[in-house]
Amino acid sequence: MSKIPYITTAIPYVNGTPHVGHALDYLLADVYCRFYDMHGTKVRFQAGTDEHGNKIYNKALSLGIPVEQYVDDNAQLFRDFITKLGVEPTDFIRTSDPKHQQRVQEIWRRVKEHIYPSTYDGWYCAGCEGFITEKEYEENHGICPDHQTPYERLSEKNYYLRISDFKERIQSAIESGDMQILPEFRKREILKLLENSPDVSISRPKKNISWGIPVPEDEEQVMYVWMDALANYITVLGYPEQDISEYWPADVQFVGKDILRFHAIIWPSILLALGLPLPKVILSHGHIFVDGQKMSKSIGNVVDPNEIIDKYGLDPFRYYFLRHVDTFEDSDFTWDKFDSAYSGELANDLGNLVQRLAVLSSKNAISITSSDHAEIKQKALVDQNYCQYMNNLNFSKAFDYTWSLIQDLNKEINDKQPWAIAKTDPEKAKDILIDLDKKLLLANQLLIPFLPETAAKIQAVFGEKITIPSPLFPKQ
Ligand code: MSP
Repeated sequence: MSKIPYITTAIPYVNGTPHVGHALDYLLADVYCRFYDMHGTKVRFQAGTDEHGNKIYNKALSLGIPVEQYVDDNAQLFRDFITKLGVEPTDFIRTSDPKHQQRVQEIWRRVKEHIYPSTYDGWYCAGCEGFITEKEYEENHGICPDHQTPYERLSEKNYYLRISDFKERIQSAIESGDMQILPEFRKREILKLLENSPDVSISRPKKNISWGIPVPEDEEQVMYVWMDALANYITVLGYPEQDISEYWPADVQFVGKDILRFHAIIWPSILLALGLPLPKVILSHGHIFVDGQKMSKSIGNVVDPNEIIDKYGLDPFRYYFLRHVDTFEDSDFTWDKFDSAYSGELANDLGNLVQRLAVLSSKNAISITSSDHAEIKQKALVDQNYCQYMNNLNFSKAFDYTWSLIQDLNKEINDKQPWAIAKTDPEKAKDILIDLDKKLLLANQLLIPFLPETAAKIQAVFGEKITIPSPLFPKQ
Protein backbone atom coordinates (compact mmCIF):
# COMPACT_ATOMS: atom_id res chain seq x y z
CA MET A 1 0.00 0.00 0.00
CA SER A 2 1.58 3.30 -1.00
CA LYS A 3 1.60 6.05 1.57
CA ILE A 4 -0.65 9.08 1.16
CA PRO A 5 0.95 12.39 2.19
CA TYR A 6 -0.33 13.56 5.56
CA ILE A 7 -0.19 17.22 6.58
CA THR A 8 -1.15 18.49 10.03
CA THR A 9 -1.80 21.84 11.73
CA ALA A 10 -1.73 22.85 15.40
CA ILE A 11 -5.16 22.76 17.01
CA PRO A 12 -5.99 26.12 18.63
CA TYR A 13 -7.47 26.56 22.08
CA VAL A 14 -11.08 27.61 21.84
CA ASN A 15 -11.06 30.12 24.70
CA GLY A 16 -11.03 33.01 22.24
CA THR A 17 -11.92 33.90 18.71
CA PRO A 18 -9.54 33.36 15.77
CA HIS A 19 -6.92 36.07 15.23
CA VAL A 20 -4.47 36.62 12.38
CA GLY A 21 -1.80 34.49 14.10
CA HIS A 22 -4.07 31.46 13.88
CA ALA A 23 -4.19 31.83 10.09
CA LEU A 24 -0.55 30.87 9.55
CA ASP A 25 -0.73 27.14 10.23
CA TYR A 26 -3.72 26.82 7.90
CA LEU A 27 -2.35 28.96 5.10
CA LEU A 28 1.05 27.28 5.03
CA ALA A 29 -0.48 23.81 5.11
CA ASP A 30 -2.93 24.82 2.40
CA VAL A 31 -0.18 26.10 0.10
CA TYR A 32 1.66 22.82 0.46
CA CYS A 33 -1.49 20.79 -0.23
CA ARG A 34 -2.20 22.85 -3.34
CA PHE A 35 1.38 22.33 -4.47
CA TYR A 36 0.81 18.58 -4.13
CA ASP A 37 -2.42 19.01 -6.04
CA MET A 38 -0.56 20.77 -8.91
CA HIS A 39 1.44 17.57 -9.20
CA GLY A 40 -1.70 15.44 -9.15
CA THR A 41 -1.25 14.09 -5.61
CA LYS A 42 -4.11 14.07 -3.13
CA VAL A 43 -3.25 14.48 0.54
CA ARG A 44 -4.81 13.95 3.95
CA PHE A 45 -4.96 17.25 5.81
CA GLN A 46 -5.98 17.49 9.46
CA ALA A 47 -7.19 20.54 11.40
CA GLY A 48 -9.12 20.81 14.64
CA THR A 49 -9.62 22.41 18.03
CA ASP A 50 -8.06 21.93 21.47
CA GLU A 51 -10.95 22.12 23.90
CA HIS A 52 -9.89 21.01 27.37
CA GLY A 53 -8.27 22.74 30.35
CA ASN A 54 -9.04 25.31 32.98
CA LYS A 55 -8.76 28.39 30.80
CA ILE A 56 -11.59 27.16 28.61
CA TYR A 57 -13.61 25.90 31.56
CA ASN A 58 -13.26 29.17 33.47
CA LYS A 59 -14.09 31.26 30.42
CA ALA A 60 -17.34 29.34 29.94
CA LEU A 61 -18.06 29.71 33.64
CA SER A 62 -17.47 33.46 33.55
CA LEU A 63 -19.89 33.76 30.63
CA GLY A 64 -22.48 31.64 32.42
CA ILE A 65 -22.59 29.13 29.56
CA PRO A 66 -22.31 25.34 29.95
CA VAL A 67 -18.77 24.43 28.90
CA GLU A 68 -20.02 21.94 26.30
CA GLN A 69 -22.01 24.66 24.58
CA TYR A 70 -19.14 27.12 24.82
CA VAL A 71 -16.70 24.74 23.09
CA ASP A 72 -19.30 23.85 20.45
CA ASP A 73 -19.82 27.51 19.60
CA ASN A 74 -16.14 28.38 19.48
CA ALA A 75 -15.09 25.27 17.57
CA GLN A 76 -17.60 26.38 14.95
CA LEU A 77 -15.94 29.82 14.79
CA PHE A 78 -12.62 28.15 13.95
CA ARG A 79 -14.26 25.93 11.36
CA ASP A 80 -15.85 28.95 9.73
CA PHE A 81 -12.55 30.78 9.87
CA ILE A 82 -10.75 27.96 8.04
CA THR A 83 -13.41 27.99 5.33
CA LYS A 84 -13.12 31.75 5.05
CA LEU A 85 -9.37 31.35 4.40
CA GLY A 86 -10.18 29.16 1.39
CA VAL A 87 -8.72 26.15 3.20
CA GLU A 88 -10.35 22.72 3.01
CA PRO A 89 -8.89 20.16 5.42
CA THR A 90 -9.96 16.57 4.90
CA ASP A 91 -10.46 16.10 8.66
CA PHE A 92 -11.52 18.30 11.56
CA ILE A 93 -10.94 16.88 15.02
CA ARG A 94 -12.25 18.20 18.33
CA THR A 95 -10.57 16.99 21.50
CA SER A 96 -13.92 16.92 23.31
CA ASP A 97 -15.13 14.27 20.88
CA PRO A 98 -15.78 11.06 22.90
CA LYS A 99 -14.01 8.98 20.24
CA HIS A 100 -10.85 11.06 20.69
CA GLN A 101 -11.11 10.71 24.47
CA GLN A 102 -11.38 6.92 24.34
CA ARG A 103 -8.45 6.72 21.96
CA VAL A 104 -6.26 8.95 24.11
CA GLN A 105 -7.04 6.80 27.13
CA GLU A 106 -5.97 3.73 25.17
CA ILE A 107 -2.79 5.54 24.13
CA TRP A 108 -2.10 6.28 27.82
CA ARG A 109 -2.48 2.59 28.64
CA ARG A 110 -0.09 1.65 25.86
CA VAL A 111 2.68 4.02 27.00
CA LYS A 112 2.17 3.22 30.68
CA GLU A 113 5.55 1.60 31.20
CA HIS A 114 7.13 5.02 30.50
CA ILE A 115 4.84 6.83 32.96
CA TYR A 116 5.42 7.15 36.71
CA PRO A 117 3.72 9.08 39.54
CA SER A 118 5.60 11.76 41.45
CA THR A 119 5.02 14.98 43.35
CA TYR A 120 5.46 18.35 41.72
CA ASP A 121 6.76 20.88 44.15
CA GLY A 122 7.36 24.27 42.60
CA TRP A 123 5.97 27.37 40.91
CA TYR A 124 2.87 27.47 38.76
CA CYS A 125 1.14 30.02 36.53
CA ALA A 126 -2.62 29.59 36.44
CA GLY A 127 -2.88 31.79 33.32
CA CYS A 128 -0.39 29.63 31.37
CA GLU A 129 -1.68 26.48 33.07
CA GLY A 130 1.97 25.56 33.30
CA PHE A 131 4.81 24.86 35.70
CA ILE A 132 7.48 27.50 36.06
CA THR A 133 11.13 26.67 36.66
CA GLU A 134 13.15 28.41 39.41
CA LYS A 135 15.13 30.11 36.64
CA GLU A 136 11.99 31.51 34.98
CA TYR A 137 10.69 32.54 38.39
CA GLU A 138 13.81 34.55 39.10
CA GLU A 139 14.07 36.05 35.61
CA ASN A 140 10.47 37.29 35.78
CA HIS A 141 10.71 38.37 39.45
CA GLY A 142 7.87 36.05 40.40
CA ILE A 143 5.32 37.58 38.00
CA CYS A 144 4.10 36.07 34.73
CA PRO A 145 5.01 38.49 31.93
CA ASP A 146 2.06 37.32 29.83
CA HIS A 147 -0.61 37.46 32.52
CA GLN A 148 0.87 39.99 34.96
CA THR A 149 -0.16 37.73 37.85
CA PRO A 150 2.16 36.38 40.58
CA TYR A 151 3.27 32.77 40.23
CA GLU A 152 1.75 30.43 42.83
CA ARG A 153 3.53 27.79 44.91
CA LEU A 154 2.21 24.32 44.27
CA SER A 155 2.70 20.84 45.66
CA GLU A 156 0.67 18.11 43.96
CA LYS A 157 0.71 14.58 42.60
CA ASN A 158 1.31 14.27 38.84
CA TYR A 159 2.11 11.50 36.42
CA TYR A 160 5.32 12.03 34.48
CA LEU A 161 6.39 10.81 31.07
CA ARG A 162 9.97 9.55 31.15
CA ILE A 163 11.53 11.65 28.39
CA SER A 164 14.91 10.21 29.37
CA ASP A 165 13.81 6.87 27.84
CA PHE A 166 13.77 8.50 24.39
CA LYS A 167 16.11 11.46 24.49
CA GLU A 168 18.96 9.84 22.60
CA ARG A 169 16.75 8.44 19.85
CA ILE A 170 15.07 11.81 19.37
CA GLN A 171 18.44 13.54 19.29
CA SER A 172 19.80 11.23 16.64
CA ALA A 173 16.58 11.42 14.55
CA ILE A 174 16.89 15.21 14.53
CA GLU A 175 20.60 15.17 13.79
CA SER A 176 20.29 12.64 10.97
CA GLY A 177 17.31 14.49 9.47
CA ASP A 178 14.99 11.48 9.90
CA MET A 179 12.83 13.93 11.81
CA GLN A 180 13.66 17.22 10.18
CA ILE A 181 13.09 20.41 12.12
CA LEU A 182 12.73 23.55 10.08
CA PRO A 183 14.18 26.12 10.07
CA GLU A 184 17.75 25.17 10.92
CA PHE A 185 18.08 27.72 13.75
CA ARG A 186 15.08 26.19 15.52
CA LYS A 187 16.59 22.74 15.11
CA ARG A 188 19.68 23.93 16.95
CA GLU A 189 17.51 25.41 19.73
CA ILE A 190 15.70 22.12 20.16
CA LEU A 191 18.90 20.09 20.26
CA LYS A 192 20.14 22.39 23.01
CA LEU A 193 16.87 22.10 24.94
CA LEU A 194 16.93 18.32 24.63
CA GLU A 195 20.27 18.10 26.41
CA ASN A 196 18.70 19.10 29.72
CA SER A 197 15.12 18.16 29.05
CA PRO A 198 13.50 16.81 32.24
CA ASP A 199 10.69 14.27 32.37
CA VAL A 200 7.37 16.03 31.79
CA SER A 201 4.24 16.14 33.85
CA ILE A 202 1.28 14.80 31.87
CA SER A 203 -1.55 14.89 34.43
CA ARG A 204 -3.10 17.11 37.07
CA PRO A 205 -5.20 16.31 40.16
CA LYS A 206 -8.87 16.25 39.24
CA LYS A 207 -9.66 18.74 41.99
CA ASN A 208 -7.57 21.33 40.08
CA ILE A 209 -8.68 20.51 36.52
CA SER A 210 -12.05 18.95 36.02
CA TRP A 211 -12.53 19.65 32.30
CA GLY A 212 -10.23 17.09 30.73
CA ILE A 213 -9.78 13.42 29.91
CA PRO A 214 -9.66 11.17 32.99
CA VAL A 215 -6.45 9.21 33.50
CA PRO A 216 -7.30 5.51 33.13
CA GLU A 217 -7.31 3.57 36.39
CA ASP A 218 -6.83 6.68 38.57
CA GLU A 219 -10.00 8.58 39.37
CA GLU A 220 -8.09 11.37 41.07
CA GLN A 221 -6.16 12.45 37.98
CA VAL A 222 -6.98 14.16 34.70
CA MET A 223 -4.69 14.34 31.66
CA TYR A 224 -2.83 17.56 31.12
CA VAL A 225 -3.78 19.25 27.85
CA TRP A 226 -0.58 18.47 25.94
CA MET A 227 -0.91 14.68 26.11
CA ASP A 228 -4.52 15.00 25.05
CA ALA A 229 -3.86 17.57 22.31
CA LEU A 230 -0.77 16.04 20.69
CA ALA A 231 -2.50 12.69 20.35
CA ASN A 232 -5.03 14.31 17.99
CA TYR A 233 -2.66 13.84 15.06
CA ILE A 234 -3.14 10.08 15.22
CA THR A 235 -6.54 9.70 16.89
CA VAL A 236 -8.00 11.60 13.94
CA LEU A 237 -6.71 8.76 11.72
CA GLY A 238 -8.46 6.21 13.92
CA TYR A 239 -5.47 5.14 16.04
CA PRO A 240 -5.24 2.79 17.87
CA GLU A 241 -8.08 0.66 16.46
CA GLN A 242 -7.13 1.34 12.87
CA ASP A 243 -3.94 0.72 10.94
CA ILE A 244 -2.68 4.23 10.18
CA SER A 245 0.39 3.29 8.13
CA GLU A 246 -1.29 4.51 4.95
CA TYR A 247 -0.90 8.06 6.36
CA TRP A 248 1.47 8.02 9.31
CA PRO A 249 4.21 9.27 9.68
CA ALA A 250 3.07 12.80 8.90
CA ASP A 251 4.95 14.38 6.03
CA VAL A 252 4.82 17.87 7.51
CA GLN A 253 3.49 19.09 10.85
CA PHE A 254 2.95 22.86 10.88
CA VAL A 255 3.27 24.56 14.28
CA GLY A 256 4.10 27.99 15.69
CA LYS A 257 7.49 28.58 17.28
CA ASP A 258 5.98 28.76 20.80
CA ILE A 259 4.83 25.15 20.66
CA LEU A 260 7.71 23.60 18.76
CA ARG A 261 9.31 22.14 21.88
CA PHE A 262 6.15 20.19 22.73
CA HIS A 263 6.11 18.82 19.18
CA ALA A 264 9.82 18.11 19.00
CA ILE A 265 10.30 16.55 22.45
CA ILE A 266 7.06 15.34 24.09
CA TRP A 267 5.33 14.23 20.90
CA PRO A 268 8.22 12.11 19.59
CA SER A 269 8.51 10.53 23.06
CA ILE A 270 4.86 9.49 22.93
CA LEU A 271 5.29 8.14 19.40
CA LEU A 272 8.40 6.17 20.29
CA ALA A 273 6.65 4.77 23.37
CA LEU A 274 3.87 3.59 21.04
CA GLY A 275 6.37 2.12 18.60
CA LEU A 276 5.25 4.52 15.86
CA PRO A 277 7.57 6.31 13.42
CA LEU A 278 8.44 9.97 13.94
CA PRO A 279 7.05 12.72 11.68
CA LYS A 280 9.24 13.45 8.67
CA VAL A 281 9.22 17.23 9.10
CA ILE A 282 8.13 19.64 11.81
CA LEU A 283 7.94 23.15 10.44
CA SER A 284 7.97 25.94 12.98
CA HIS A 285 6.71 29.27 11.69
CA GLY A 286 7.38 32.65 13.26
CA HIS A 287 4.90 34.84 15.04
CA ILE A 288 2.96 37.80 13.77
CA PHE A 289 3.43 41.07 15.59
CA VAL A 290 1.24 44.10 15.18
CA ASP A 291 3.00 47.44 14.85
CA GLY A 292 6.08 45.72 16.29
CA GLN A 293 4.24 44.50 19.40
CA LYS A 294 3.03 41.10 20.50
CA MET A 295 -0.72 40.83 19.97
CA SER A 296 -2.54 41.04 23.26
CA LYS A 297 -6.02 41.72 24.51
CA SER A 298 -4.70 44.03 27.21
CA ILE A 299 -2.86 46.22 24.66
CA GLY A 300 -5.96 46.01 22.49
CA ASN A 301 -4.02 45.36 19.28
CA VAL A 302 -5.47 41.96 18.33
CA VAL A 303 -6.26 41.99 14.61
CA ASP A 304 -9.43 40.26 13.51
CA PRO A 305 -8.76 38.48 10.21
CA ASN A 306 -12.44 38.81 9.24
CA GLU A 307 -12.05 42.58 9.19
CA ILE A 308 -9.23 42.36 6.63
CA ILE A 309 -10.91 39.74 4.47
CA ASP A 310 -14.26 41.55 4.49
CA LYS A 311 -12.62 44.80 3.46
CA TYR A 312 -10.02 43.64 0.90
CA GLY A 313 -11.03 40.10 -0.07
CA LEU A 314 -9.47 36.70 0.56
CA ASP A 315 -6.57 36.68 -1.91
CA PRO A 316 -5.15 40.01 -0.68
CA PHE A 317 -5.20 38.48 2.83
CA ARG A 318 -3.44 35.35 1.57
CA TYR A 319 -0.97 37.52 -0.34
CA TYR A 320 0.11 39.49 2.70
CA PHE A 321 0.31 36.58 5.12
CA LEU A 322 2.09 34.28 2.69
CA ARG A 323 4.53 36.72 1.12
CA HIS A 324 5.14 39.56 3.56
CA VAL A 325 5.00 37.23 6.52
CA ASP A 326 8.17 35.18 6.27
CA THR A 327 7.61 31.42 6.52
CA PHE A 328 10.12 31.01 9.34
CA GLU A 329 10.83 34.39 10.95
CA ASP A 330 8.63 36.70 13.03
CA SER A 331 6.90 39.32 10.89
CA ASP A 332 4.92 42.46 11.38
CA PHE A 333 1.42 43.44 10.35
CA THR A 334 0.24 47.02 10.10
CA TRP A 335 -2.76 48.32 8.19
CA ASP A 336 -0.42 50.72 6.32
CA LYS A 337 1.87 47.91 5.20
CA PHE A 338 -1.13 45.87 4.17
CA ASP A 339 -2.62 48.74 2.23
CA SER A 340 0.59 49.51 0.37
CA ALA A 341 1.05 45.81 -0.52
CA TYR A 342 -2.50 45.86 -1.86
CA SER A 343 -2.28 48.95 -4.00
CA GLY A 344 1.43 48.94 -4.87
CA GLU A 345 1.88 45.24 -5.58
CA LEU A 346 -1.41 43.42 -6.13
CA ALA A 347 -3.26 46.19 -7.94
CA ASN A 348 -0.24 47.70 -9.65
CA ASP A 349 2.19 44.87 -10.45
CA LEU A 350 -0.37 42.16 -11.11
CA GLY A 351 -3.79 43.78 -11.66
CA ASN A 352 -2.53 46.38 -14.14
CA LEU A 353 -0.33 43.90 -15.98
CA VAL A 354 -3.26 41.55 -16.55
CA GLN A 355 -5.45 44.43 -17.66
CA ARG A 356 -2.88 45.81 -20.10
CA LEU A 357 -2.07 42.44 -21.62
CA ALA A 358 -5.74 41.51 -21.92
CA VAL A 359 -6.61 44.77 -23.69
CA LEU A 360 -3.64 44.61 -26.08
CA SER A 361 -4.06 40.90 -26.80
CA SER A 362 -7.74 41.24 -27.49
CA LYS A 363 -7.14 44.24 -29.80
CA ASN A 364 -4.56 42.22 -31.71
CA ALA A 365 -6.83 39.18 -31.95
CA ILE A 366 -4.51 36.89 -30.05
CA SER A 367 -5.62 33.52 -28.83
CA ILE A 368 -3.94 31.06 -26.51
CA THR A 369 -4.78 27.52 -27.54
CA SER A 370 -5.48 24.68 -25.16
CA SER A 371 -2.27 22.98 -26.24
CA ASP A 372 -0.40 26.20 -25.30
CA HIS A 373 -2.05 26.02 -21.88
CA ALA A 374 -1.07 22.37 -21.46
CA GLU A 375 2.52 23.15 -22.40
CA ILE A 376 2.68 26.06 -19.92
CA LYS A 377 1.31 23.84 -17.17
CA GLN A 378 4.02 21.26 -17.80
CA LYS A 379 6.69 23.95 -17.78
CA ALA A 380 5.45 25.26 -14.43
CA LEU A 381 5.73 21.82 -12.88
CA VAL A 382 9.45 21.70 -13.53
CA ASP A 383 10.34 25.31 -12.76
CA GLN A 384 13.53 24.65 -10.83
CA ASN A 385 13.72 27.70 -8.58
CA TYR A 386 10.09 27.45 -7.62
CA CYS A 387 10.13 23.71 -6.98
CA GLN A 388 13.28 23.97 -4.93
CA TYR A 389 11.76 26.61 -2.65
CA MET A 390 8.48 24.72 -2.39
CA ASN A 391 10.14 21.39 -1.69
CA ASN A 392 12.20 23.08 1.02
CA LEU A 393 8.92 24.45 2.41
CA ASN A 394 10.23 27.98 2.06
CA PHE A 395 6.91 29.29 0.81
CA SER A 396 7.50 33.01 1.22
CA LYS A 397 10.66 32.65 -0.93
CA ALA A 398 8.74 30.69 -3.58
CA PHE A 399 6.17 33.48 -3.60
CA ASP A 400 8.91 36.14 -3.85
CA TYR A 401 10.37 34.29 -6.81
CA THR A 402 6.95 34.11 -8.52
CA TRP A 403 6.46 37.80 -7.91
CA SER A 404 9.86 38.59 -9.43
CA LEU A 405 8.60 36.98 -12.66
CA ILE A 406 5.62 39.31 -12.59
CA GLN A 407 7.84 42.32 -12.00
CA ASP A 408 10.12 41.25 -14.87
CA LEU A 409 7.09 41.10 -17.13
CA ASN A 410 6.10 44.64 -16.21
CA LYS A 411 9.55 45.76 -17.21
CA GLU A 412 9.48 43.75 -20.41
CA ILE A 413 6.14 45.13 -21.60
CA ASN A 414 7.37 48.69 -20.95
CA ASP A 415 10.65 48.05 -22.73
CA LYS A 416 9.15 46.34 -25.77
CA GLN A 417 6.14 48.66 -26.18
CA PRO A 418 4.00 46.27 -28.25
CA TRP A 419 1.27 48.95 -28.58
CA ALA A 420 3.73 51.17 -30.53
CA ILE A 421 5.06 48.31 -32.65
CA ALA A 422 1.49 47.28 -33.59
CA LYS A 423 1.18 50.51 -35.60
CA THR A 424 4.07 49.63 -37.94
CA ASP A 425 4.56 45.87 -37.67
CA PRO A 426 1.38 44.08 -36.46
CA GLU A 427 2.88 40.58 -36.86
CA LYS A 428 5.86 41.43 -34.68
CA ALA A 429 3.55 42.99 -32.07
CA LYS A 430 1.51 39.78 -32.09
CA ASP A 431 4.61 37.66 -31.47
CA ILE A 432 5.66 39.88 -28.58
CA LEU A 433 2.20 39.73 -27.04
CA ILE A 434 1.90 35.96 -27.36
CA ASP A 435 5.26 35.61 -25.67
CA LEU A 436 4.25 37.97 -22.86
CA ASP A 437 0.90 36.25 -22.39
CA LYS A 438 2.59 32.87 -22.12
CA LYS A 439 5.07 34.17 -19.59
CA LEU A 440 2.22 35.64 -17.57
CA LEU A 441 0.36 32.34 -17.70
CA LEU A 442 3.44 30.50 -16.51
CA ALA A 443 3.78 32.84 -13.52
CA ASN A 444 0.05 32.39 -12.99
CA GLN A 445 0.47 28.62 -12.66
CA LEU A 446 2.97 29.25 -9.89
CA LEU A 447 0.49 31.59 -8.20
CA ILE A 448 -2.18 28.88 -7.88
CA PRO A 449 -1.17 27.61 -4.40
CA PHE A 450 -0.97 31.16 -3.05
CA LEU A 451 -3.81 33.05 -4.75
CA PRO A 452 -6.15 30.37 -6.07
CA GLU A 453 -9.12 32.65 -6.84
CA THR A 454 -7.03 35.25 -8.64
CA ALA A 455 -5.13 32.61 -10.61
CA ALA A 456 -8.43 31.08 -11.78
CA LYS A 457 -9.66 34.50 -12.91
CA ILE A 458 -6.46 35.18 -14.86
CA GLN A 459 -6.61 31.77 -16.44
CA ALA A 460 -10.15 32.47 -17.62
CA VAL A 461 -9.11 35.78 -19.26
CA PHE A 462 -6.59 34.14 -21.58
CA GLY A 463 -8.70 31.51 -23.28
CA GLU A 464 -9.06 30.85 -27.02
CA LYS A 465 -10.69 34.25 -27.05
CA ILE A 466 -9.21 36.86 -24.75
CA THR A 467 -11.67 38.74 -22.55
CA ILE A 468 -11.18 42.00 -20.68
CA PRO A 469 -11.66 41.43 -16.96
CA SER A 470 -13.02 43.90 -14.45
CA PRO A 471 -10.16 45.16 -12.22
CA LEU A 472 -8.76 42.26 -10.19
CA PHE A 473 -7.93 44.50 -7.24
CA PRO A 474 -10.23 47.54 -7.28
CA LYS A 475 -9.21 50.79 -5.59
CA GLN A 476 -10.11 50.74 -1.89
N1 MSP B 1 -3.66 24.31 21.63
C1 MSP B 1 -2.29 24.54 21.41
C2 MSP B 1 -1.77 23.72 20.26
C3 MSP B 1 -1.92 22.25 20.40
S1 MSP B 1 -1.32 21.41 19.00
C4 MSP B 1 -1.37 19.82 19.43
C5 MSP B 1 -2.04 26.02 21.11
N2 MSP B 1 -3.11 26.74 20.74
S2 MSP B 1 -3.02 28.30 20.35
O1 MSP B 1 -4.37 28.68 20.06
O2 MSP B 1 -2.36 29.02 21.37
O3 MSP B 1 -2.15 28.38 19.07
C6 MSP B 1 -2.54 27.73 17.86
C7 MSP B 1 -1.52 28.01 16.77
O4 MSP B 1 -1.52 29.42 16.49
C8 MSP B 1 -0.08 27.66 17.16
O5 MSP B 1 0.62 27.13 16.06
C9 MSP B 1 0.50 29.00 17.55
O6 MSP B 1 1.89 29.08 17.41
C10 MSP B 1 -0.18 29.88 16.53
N3 MSP B 1 -0.18 31.28 16.95
C11 MSP B 1 -0.78 31.85 18.03
N4 MSP B 1 -0.45 33.18 18.04
C12 MSP B 1 0.32 33.47 16.98
C13 MSP B 1 0.87 34.65 16.44
N5 MSP B 1 0.76 35.82 17.00
N6 MSP B 1 1.53 34.54 15.24
C14 MSP B 1 1.64 33.35 14.57
N7 MSP B 1 1.15 32.23 15.07
C15 MSP B 1 0.58 32.24 16.32
O7 MSP B 1 -0.90 26.44 21.20
